[in-house]
Amino acid sequence: MKVQNLVKVFENTFGQPAGSVFAAPGRVNLIGEHTDYNGSFVFPGAIDKGITAAIRLNGTGQVRLWSVDYEEKAVFSMEEQDLPQAMWARYVFGVCREMVKRGAAPGGFDAAFTGDVPLGAGMSSSAALESVFAYALNELFSLGFDKMELARIGQATEHNYVGVKCGIMDQFVSLFGKKDHLVRLDTRSMEYNYFPFHPQGYRLVLLDTLVKHELASSAYNKRRQSCENAARAVRDNGHPQVEYLRDVSMDMLQSVRSVISEEDFKRATYVIEETQRVLTVGEALERDDYETVGRMMYQTHYGMRDLYEVSCRELDFLNDVALECGVTGSRVMGGGFGGCTINLVKETLYDTFLEKAKTAYSKEFGREPKVYPVVICDGARRLL
Ligand code: GLA
Repeated sequence: MKVQNLVKVFENTFGQPAGSVFAAPGRVNLIGEHTDYNGSFVFPGAIDKGITAAIRLNGTGQVRLWSVDYEEKAVFSMEEQDLPQAMWARYVFGVCREMVKRGAAPGGFDAAFTGDVPLGAGMSSSAALESVFAYALNELFSLGFDKMELARIGQATEHNYVGVKCGIMDQFVSLFGKKDHLVRLDTRSMEYNYFPFHPQGYRLVLLDTLVKHELASSAYNKRRQSCENAARAVRDNGHPQVEYLRDVSMDMLQSVRSVISEEDFKRATYVIEETQRVLTVGEALERDDYETVGRMMYQTHYGMRDLYEVSCRELDFLNDVALECGVTGSRVMGGGFGGCTINLVKETLYDTFLEKAKTAYSKEFGREPKVYPVVICDGARRLL
C-alpha cells in the first residue's frame, strides 16, 4: 500500500490527519543462524519489505490501533493487565510496556499500519512491527533511547509478550540496516561492521516454500535450551570462563559428551561449526570470494537439517534443486521449520534456476514457491 493511501486510511479511521509516518524493514541473513543467542556472529541485511505506520498522538493514555491487513482494531492502555487479545496487537503493547518498564512514559496514540513482509516466511515481520513502533514512539515522545536499546525493547517484547526466546538479530538489523550493506554483528559485544554487498555477477534470491513456520511453537525455545544446557555442562566441567557456546571448542564439547544428551550435543556441534562459518564468510567477502560464501551456505543448510533439525522436506527439496542447478550457495534462512531458502546465484544461471525450481516444486508439492529477489535497504526511518 502506498504511503498516501495509508494516510487516507488513517484519516478515515480516526477522523483526523496522521501526524507522521514511519517504516521499518524485515531482513535476510546471509549466514549465522541460531548463533545470536549463543553470543556469536550473524550477517543480516534489512530488506525492501517492511511495516509502515501512520501515527498521531491522541493526548490520552490509550493506544488505538488499526491493522489494515487484518482489518481489525485494538484498544489498550499502558497497564500490564490490559494485554490485548489479538496476537498482532501484543507486539505493539509489548513495545509500550517494555518502554514503561525502562522508566519511559510514552503517551496515548492512534496508529494505522500495513506491511508487505510475508508472514511466517522467516523474514522477520514481527521484528519489523516492533521496530517501527519502538522507533516512532521514541522519536514522537522524545524518550531518549538509543537504537540498541530500541532493539532490546523489541527482543524483550518477543520474550515477555509473545513467548519466543529469540536473539537480537532481527530487531537489531531492522533498526541498524543500511542500503547495499550487510552487517556482521557480534552478539556478545554488540560491535558491528557494515560490509558493502553488491556481488558482481551474482544475485541473492529467496524462494518461499509457503510452509508457515511457527517460531512461537516451543521448538525454537527448545533449541535455545539445548544450547544453554551444553554451555553449562562445559562451564561446570573445568571451564568456568564459558559464558556462551561461542566460547566452546569442539574439543571442549567432546569432553562433556557423556554428561549431556545426544540431542544437546548435536545442537551444540551445529552452533560451534556455524560460528566458524560466519568468520570464514566475513573473510571471503573481503576478497569477493563468493564461491567460498556459497560453500559455507550449503554447509549451514546441512547443519540445520541434520544437527539442528530445523529444516523440513520442502526446504530440503529446494536446496537439492539449487545444488543440482549449480547454484553457488543455498540454505534455509531464519529460524527454520518452513519459510524460505536464501540462494546466491550466478546471473547467468538465474532464470534457468528459477524455472527449474518452480516446475520441480509444483510437481512435487502442487504449488509454486514464491520468489523474492533480495534488495538490501535502510533500517527504521521516518517517512513523513
Ligand atoms: C529468528 C530469531 C532470531 C534468530 C533466528 C535464527 O529469526 O528471531 O533471533 O535466532 O531465528 O538465526
